[in-house]
Amino acid sequence: MAIRRISSEERLTTSFPLQSYAFERSPANAAATQETRQYLPYNEGNVTLVAEESDTVVAAASAIPMRQNIRGTVFPMAGIAGVATHPLARRQGHVRRLLTQLLGEMRDEGHAATALYPFRPSFYERFGYVGFPKPRTVTFSPADLNHFLRLDLPGEVTWQRIKDGYDTYRDFIHRSLAERHGFAAFPDYRAARQRDSDEEWLVMAVVDGETVGAVTYRIEDHAGDLLAGDLLTTGPVGRALLLQFFARHVDQVARVTTTVSANESPELWATDFAAHTEAKISFPGSSAPMARILSMEALHGIAAGPGRVTIEVVDDPFIAGTYLLNGEGGRLEVTAERAATPAATLTAAGISALVYGVLDPVEVALRGFGAVPDAAATALRGIFPPRTPRLFASF
Ligand SMILES: CC(C)(COP(=O)(O)OP(=O)(O)OC[C@H]1O[C@@H](n2cnc3c(N)ncnc32)[C@H](O)[C@@H]1OP(=O)(O)O)[C@@H](O)C(=O)NCCC(=O)NCCS
Repeated sequence: MAIRRISSEERLTTSFPLQSYAFERSPANAAATQETRQYLPYNEGNVTLVAEESDTVVAAASAIPMRQNIRGTVFPMAGIAGVATHPLARRQGHVRRLLTQLLGEMRDEGHAATALYPFRPSFYERFGYVGFPKPRTVTFSPADLNHFLRLDLPGEVTWQRIKDGYDTYRDFIHRSLAERHGFAAFPDYRAARQRDSDEEWLVMAVVDGETVGAVTYRIEDHAGDLLAGDLLTTGPVGRALLLQFFARHVDQVARVTTTVSANESPELWATDFAAHTEAKISFPGSSAPMARILSMEALHGIAAGPGRVTIEVVDDPFIAGTYLLNGEGGRLEVTAERAATPAATLTAAGISALVYGVLDPVEVALRGFGAVPDAAATALRGIFPPRTPRLFASF
């Protein structure tokens, strides 16, 4: 098997057909095949590797050069997408080799982390990925937001089609990227697909000229559903302005559905608010994202709590080694320590779980991601306080 990085146009005859078979209605009709050409610009800067056997492409995997906030610092991050093997070539190790090479190339090009939406988490756990909490979808009747109609709020909302408000929305996405742990943003060429398809309305909450909230949505039908994307706000005023906007649809739609971070409590947004909040996990269709660290050295300088411990990362082609982690000054110091005796051993998934703040060190050991004695657990808990990462971008 040979692995090759392909160029933009080649996608039409190599990776796209495999992806189309794996993720779309199949077989594709002639019109759908024709349509795929229009997706080329949105893949332009992706790194796509294909595996070939006897000059036939049998598997493909792509990485989108994204950016992600990890504990307050923004890093280049590889968003993995379009992982697919021809049905006749599955279970022969093609994706194992393809993904290992792709992650190595992305790491060498400066990507400190990688994220994806797994068809099955156990598959990607073997590659060192760990699960993020799944964002919640909230469904409610606009009638339950009656209270917001009478609220005298500062600021205003703007309302336009996404193509018209796209630049301001993108500015707000970049601000969220700078401020929110776990948040990831697409490169411009990929993000532009949302503007060009122009299938959503955009509402933004603005106070004193500053954007404090934004949400995109579409209305399915009269007396039906208003389907909104992620409710992005900087705080309660931004959220109240957006909910007030939804409240004005009381005589138009029966339900509003939007997505919020896993640590939000929509039941506290209003009194008598009959919200249905859920995080439904099913495979392969509805998974929570996963992520992992690709470089320990890159983490030098991220925000950290007090603690000092030597760890060994084991069984990993990218970050295996022994490191002294020191968070005493409020910033993480990472020093490679060849000779030191580690106080804990961690797999790539284990250290990734701690860096992203999704598991306690004791859970890391219980999940099989390492051996963490009590003293090391205390130090690691101090260095990496729990956080709730919200990836935002879906791919
Ligand atoms: C999922 C898919 C990409 C796997 O590709 P593949 O080339 O068959 O995978 P590999 O043979 O390299 O398997 C790698 C490892 O994962 C294991 N594995 C394969 N499929 C798995 C599954 N469904 N669940 C858990 N483990 C799995 C293999 O046993 C192998 O383990 P090993 O190296 O220890 O033997 C392929 O089945 C596919 O195209 N499916 C449809 C599209 C899809 O779901 N893509 C993933 C989107 S996130």
